[in-house]
Order: sequence, then structure tokens, then C-alpha cells
Amino acid sequence: MIKTIGVLTSGGDAPGMNAAVRAVTRAGIAQGMEVKVIYRGYKGLIDGEVKTFTTQDVSGIIPRGGTLIKSARCTEFHTPEGRKQAYETLQREHIDALIVIGGDGTFTGGSLFAQEYDLPVIGIPGTIDNDLWGTDATIGYDTALNTITESIDKLRDTATSHERVFLVEVMGRDAGFLTLNAAIAGGCEAAIIPERAPILEQIEEAIGSGRRKSKNSSIVLVQEHAVEGGAATVAQMIEKVHPEYSTRVTVLGHLQRGGSPSAYDRILASRMGVAAVQALVDGQRNVMVGIQNDDIVLVPLSKAIHQKKDIKEDSWEAMNVLSI
Ligand code: F6P
Repeated sequence: MIKTIGVLTSGGDAPGMNAAVRAVTRAGIAQGMEVKVIYRGYKGLIDGEVKTFTTQDVSGIIPRGGTLIKSARCTEFHTPEGRKQAYETLQREHIDALIVIGGDGTFTGGSLFAQEYDLPVIGIPGTIDNDLWGTDATIGYDTALNTITESIDKLRDTATSHERVFLVEVMGRDAGFLTLNAAIAGGCEAAIIPERAPILEQIEEAIGSGRRKSKNSSIVLVQEHAVEGGAATVAQMIEKVHPEYSTRVTVLGHLQRGGSPSAYDRILASRMGVAAVQALVDGQRNVMVGIQNDDIVLVPLSKAIHQKKDIKEDSWEAMNVLSI
């Protein structure tokens, strides 16, 4: 029987992580468990930064962005020695199971750790990238999408006033979900994403056709890793072919990770946190809590990590049809 659970946030922070920690804490306590938070992700697990949380410790954190229990990217946990030290912390703290909140890297480490030490590990997807297979949404994605859309709306004002072409660089690691959907929501002229290449012809077509219809400004979203050098490179490419265009580059950067979580992310995090604790009670191990068609599902961690989530073809088509 699981008496004590550990919970940590790891990798890039995402709005809604606090709501997930709150849900795990309160659901765990409701199940009669002790809940211990581990500060700074796997780094804190190695260093023994552990604290028992009460329901009061998570009071008032649901609207807060970032992660109260901190996050880190930890290379030490990639080594067997690092994981051994982490396991020693678990033993010392009598932690029987772990709930890890994060993305791909968090789950890769958690899955390996679970196998090596025969430990129940449950993953909660928390990343703005929405790149995990087996879940329609990840915690933080909706908020980031709204932040990007608001930024596009603001850039549109200045782009139209000066009749310029704006290249806006969007995060996403290897995935284009944020870029594509923000482009649809922001009514952008083109989106450049790693999943769809070649791209330059598409941009030229999008901008060119806009100009032919007397659209004198454009906003093109560029996924951070779709083109070597990002949005700045695309701006140079465009100006080379069309010296008559005046281009400007905006890199949204870590702004995209901040802010109070949207209602959707708060609800998603709350449902997933409660489901993660329930999964442990039900004897589940090494699974990710996901959401599919608004139902909570459990997906093997190995699948969530190794299978590739595809962008929706109809979204890509919508982007292209509506951008002209
Ligand atoms: O995974 C979340 C994310 O924000 C990616 O979109 C981005 O590529 C990366 O993290 C940036 O990481 P860091 O904050 O470590 O620079």
C-alpha cells in the first residue's frame, strides 16, 4: 500500500503546474497519504530537497503561473550514479511512489528510474509545447496559445500601420502545435513549422497573394527550430527575394511560458492531479495521465515518449485556406 507520495515539477515550467501540485497534494491527503514535494525537479531529488505539504501549503496557488516548487533541467539524473542518489533520497524519506509533472525529458528520466528501481511513477503532462502522444492537451498549452495570440493582435496594429512583414518566432521545441494554432487564432498570413516543409515557397505565396489583394502587411509565425537561425533567417530570405518589403523580427521567447493559467489549464491540471493519485491507489505504474475527447485516460509512459504526435491535417489546411 502506498503511504507517502512524492511530487515534483521538472523541465520548462508551464502555467497550470501549480494547479497540478495543488490537486495532487489535496487528493493525496484525501486518500490518507502523506504528500511530499520535491523542490527543483530531479536535482532536488538528488540533493534531498523534500518537504511535507499540507492542504494549506497549496492555498491560493491555483491562479499563479510558473511553479512554486521550482523546476530544473538536471543532467546528473541522466547518470546511474545520479539516479542512485535520487533513490537514496526516496528511501530516506519513505516515499513509495512518484508523480512527475513535466514534458518529454521529465518522462524519459522518470520511466528509466521506475524500471531501475521498481518504483511506481505517474506522469502528468505539463509543457507549453503540447507535443506528448496520448493526450489532446498538455497543461500550459492553452495559456501559452492565448499569450501568443494576444501578442499577434498587438503586432498586427503596428504591422498594418507601417505596412511591414513581421516574422514572429514561437517556441515549441520540435513541434509546431503552438505555432500553427496561434497562426490560425491570430489570422496570420503563414506559419512555418517543422512538420511541413519546404517552406520558403509557401511564405512567398502567402505574402505575394496577400499583396495582390492589396494586403500591405503580413504576420508570419516561425517555429523556433523550423529553420536554422529562426525568424531572423526567414526575414533575410524574404528581403533577399523582395527587397521592397520592410521586415521586422519579434522573438516572443520566455514570455510565452509566463502568466496566470487559463481556466482550461486550471481545470485540466486539477483533473489530471486527482486522476494521478487515483491511478496510484488503483495500482497503476509507469503511465501518463492524458485527456482524450474530454475523458481522462492512462497511457504507458513509453508510448507517450516514443510515439510521435501529428499535427491535424485539417488545421494545416485551415491555416493555408484562410491566410490568403
Ligand atoms: O519545452 C518548453 C520550452 O519552452 C520549449 O518550447 C523551448 O524550446 C524550451 O523549453 C526552452 O528551454 P529553456 O527555458 O531551458 O531555454
